[in-house]
Amino acid sequence: MSVQYAPAPPLAILFELTHRCPLQCPYCSNPLELDQVRDELSTDEWRRVIGEAARLGVLQVHFSGGEPTVRRDLVDLIAHARQSGLYSNLITSGVAIDRTRFADLVAAGLDHAQLSFQDSRADSAERIGNYAGAQAKKLAFAGWVRELGLPLTVNIIVNRHNIERIDDMIDLAVGLNAARVEIAHVQYYGWALKNRAALMPTLADLQQATVRVEEARERLRGRIVIDYVVPDYYARVPKACMGGWGRQFLNVTPSGRVLPCHAAETISELSFDSVRDKSLAAIWATSSAFEKFRGTDWMPEPCQSCAQREVDWGGCRCQALAIAGAAGATDPACALSPMHGEMRALAEAASNLPSPPFLYRRRTTAAVAAS
Ligand code: SF4
Ligand code: FES
Repeated sequence: MSVQYAPAPPLAILFELTHRCPLQCPYCSNPLELDQVRDELSTDEWRRVIGEAARLGVLQVHFSGGEPTVRRDLVDLIAHARQSGLYSNLITSGVAIDRTRFADLVAAGLDHAQLSFQDSRADSAERIGNYAGAQAKKLAFAGWVRELGLPLTVNIIVNRHNIERIDDMIDLAVGLNAARVEIAHVQYYGWALKNRAALMPTLADLQQATVRVEEARERLRGRIVIDYVVPDYYARVPKACMGGWGRQFLNVTPSGRVLPCHAAETISELSFDSVRDKSLAAIWATSSAFEKFRGTDWMPEPCQSCAQREVDWGGCRCQALAIAGAAGATDPACALSPMHGEMRALAEAASNLPSPPFLYRRRTTAAVAAS
């Protein structure tokens, strides 16, 4: 029997305040078409949406981008989140802010900072992000977070160019006194899909890295929490992406479109409501994009009669589109999907060839050689 899902309040909301970013990571999760500055929500519009999120029952707000610290009104928005009773997290590259401004964010009520690293080794990190001098700025930022008393999460995206340094990356997070480190393999949607061959590790390297993470978890138990996300291409069991479509999470783009996940705009059959036209509560309850894959009614077989369907909620719709060509298909990360073998074969073929150059995203895109 399928389950008709009546939406409870979402747990978290991610505000992509802007798509502007000083870095050019080849695995960027922002859409291929970036929102322009002139289309970004105004301060008053973001303040209204923050209030609506709090009234909807959201507990956590993630300020993200692009690079959220390039928005001049970030102090104001964080203060408004605090006044609205929301727990606020800043997701940042740490390269576009100085200590004084960060102290202003903390004084305004920022609760947590999540800092991304491209690698533990500066030369490799700065080649991946295509930003000279980034590593020193990130290290300084991490110091300010701890000096000012905030909990720090370090986020490191793993790919074939840094996977051999898993231990160093974990040690980096420990040395920075982070409470948590997220070791996440690249997920291949949007711009990252263009760089799949340049980023995909071999299965052997992935297995080795997974062993290293398990050993580090044992060694560092009680000192740091290690989250680990494996690439869908080598998985056998799908992840409950976003905790299930339209179950826990909303994403608001710089110009106000409300998405069930950050990559949902890759699904061209969906249309997205905007906070400029409707309240967040109305969008959460009735938006066709949220309704489309909510619950279990939409599922094909074998999901429809599978015991896992209310555990993984059918996995990832964006991955189904990217590999199976249909957002409503069984997630190819699942061993029961007819596309599962093809997905694994794509990964193995890409990872066993020499890495092509990174394709960096820029308003003028440039290809730069990867060593
Ligand atoms: Fe999940 Fe569907 Fe696979 Fe079952 S068949 S494990 S519900 S993706
Ligand atoms: Fe969109 Fe998984 S990234 S549903």
